Amino acid sequence: MCGIIGYTGSQDSVPILLRGLTALEYRGYDSAGLAVLNEYGQIDLVKKKGRIAELQKALTDICVSGHTGIAHTRWATHGQPSDVNSHPHMDISNRFAIVHNGIIENYLMLKQALMNEGVLFRSQTDTEVIVHLIAKFYMGDLKAAVRAALKQLKGSFALLVLCADNPSSIVCAAKDNPLIIGEGEGENFIASDIPALLEHTKKIYRLADAETAEVTPDGIEIFGADGQRIQKAAQLVDWDVNAAKLEGNESFMLKEIREIPAALANTLARYTGKSNPLLTIDKKAFQNIDKIVIVACGTAYHAGLVGKYAIEKLVRLPVQVEIASEFRYGNPIVDARTLCVAISQSGETADTIAAVKEAKARGCVTLAVANVVGSSITYAADYSIPTLAGPEIAVASTKAYNSQLMALYCLCAHIAKVRGTLDKTALRAFYAGLKRLPALAKKLTEGDGGLIKLAASLKNEHSIFFLGRGLDYYVAMESSLKLKEISYIHCEAYAAGELKHGTLALVEEGTAVIVLLTERAIAEKTLNAVSEVKARRARVIAVAPKALDLTGAPIDKIVRIPDCPDLFAPVLSIIPCQKLAYYTARARGFDADKPRNLAKSVTVE
Ligand code: G6P
Repeated sequence: MCGIIGYTGSQDSVPILLRGLTALEYRGYDSAGLAVLNEYGQIDLVKKKGRIAELQKALTDICVSGHTGIAHTRWATHGQPSDVNSHPHMDISNRFAIVHNGIIENYLMLKQALMNEGVLFRSQTDTEVIVHLIAKFYMGDLKAAVRAALKQLKGSFALLVLCADNPSSIVCAAKDNPLIIGEGEGENFIASDIPALLEHTKKIYRLADAETAEVTPDGIEIFGADGQRIQKAAQLVDWDVNAAKLEGNESFMLKEIREIPAALANTLARYTGKSNPLLTIDKKAFQNIDKIVIVACGTAYHAGLVGKYAIEKLVRLPVQVEIASEFRYGNPIVDARTLCVAISQSGETADTIAAVKEAKARGCVTLAVANVVGSSITYAADYSIPTLAGPEIAVASTKAYNSQLMALYCLCAHIAKVRGTLDKTALRAFYAGLKRLPALAKKLTEGDGGLIKLAASLKNEHSIFFLGRGLDYYVAMESSLKLKEISYIHCEAYAAGELKHGTLALVEEGTAVIVLLTERAIAEKTLNAVSEVKARRARVIAVAPKALDLTGAPIDKIVRIPDCPDLFAPVLSIIPCQKLAYYTARARGFDADKPRNLAKSVTVE
């Protein structure tokens, strides 16, 4: 959840740390802080509740500089956002400073034990126990002290440690949380996520579970859990540095919506090109199964629902879609004849990774669909296939969802081919349909399509309902999530046929109801629900393909999308809903990129 950046080299670390924090702010933004080793061999600490701008403001009043430093942008788990709960945390002697992402599950017990030994705590965080443990175990060897402290911890962590005795080194460690070391020339970087490193280097090393490392300006030494030095090959990141920058756009969310056509085209090109990742998967993974279970969270879960629909329709294989956090504790009925597909933009969502591990333990073959190459989930699963959306910075996922749909359609076609449920002609038509999507999406991403005006008319609503059947219901769920998470208007998605079993009671004169009407075969049925809400004087807005004749339908406003095969309509129908969410948040004066209480990567349970 939280963002972490560290630097050691010949430059002043403070501006580098601040730029890194800014690139990582989507990970958490309720407070920020940094600790820097100054020229007198002491650690300077500055930390502030609020956005990074608050930290910057604080830094204008004091002079802080040094060649080695660590910094953190926080998404609070233990202890409310406040200056004192912000990271870094220091021991009582102020010789050690740490930043931490994750949760220390046994911190209360450790805290009590340390307090019994006379240690004074300053904050309410779980993190603070770590720095006191390191100080306790320190006998002149920082790496040994960190390793000894880690042995006491239960939970997950990515952490960086500064010690006043080691002026140009940072010791770091990871368990169930991403931590990446970026290699520069005469300087090195450490971060929780790639975007913070892109402007400095594309050569990275990922710490695996239980590994530690010591990073100095001239060296990166990585150690296994037993303390033995290990050699790792560097990975090269192929993301464009500008992809994680605003480049003149007013927000990342709007920029990322505009990038949907390219994200779709890039993803499809990979799956239809020579390096089609599906061809590297043993065919048995698709043949020797009698069901598929898809696990994911949030937007990725909604993409999984569309995947289920497509696979069940074209492969006639049962597909279950599970919220990852429910799956892992739900005693799932899966075995060696189940393929588990995990979908994750970041590849770091703790619950989704845990679900993959659970499925593996029960004998399933596991396949990750991830946007971040080399992310933790790609190691956790037996196979991994990419979405090529590029870095997604806005907390509300947009282009990653569209790319996930594209990858899932390709996966569906591949399984159908392997299992022989689609013949060559049908497959050719399928891919021809997919190929048209980037251009059709472009028509929807350009301009505002009248949605700014529509957003202005919705901005004071207390509740907005989304309706749909089949695929449209799944898009309704994603549309509802998008609107609620950034505009803070209460939204609910309902299967059109379910409405009259309760929710209709909430519809009154003027209630806004947005209905997705792209599945032509069942549009008439959905229109029954439209009539029912209209009879209660709701205000009905429809999202429908151009060719759907809605003459005389009781609809107040129609948002048209280009025609395409119904199965692919979710790729297009979501776009005006994503834009509507964005414009509504903007009309209400909210920062769509950083909705309150949320974070982009949910790396804790
Ligand atoms: C968070 C993000 C969502 C995302 C979900 C799953 O809630 O705010 O945008 O859909 O996590 O994340 P993942 O990286 O696993 O797709």
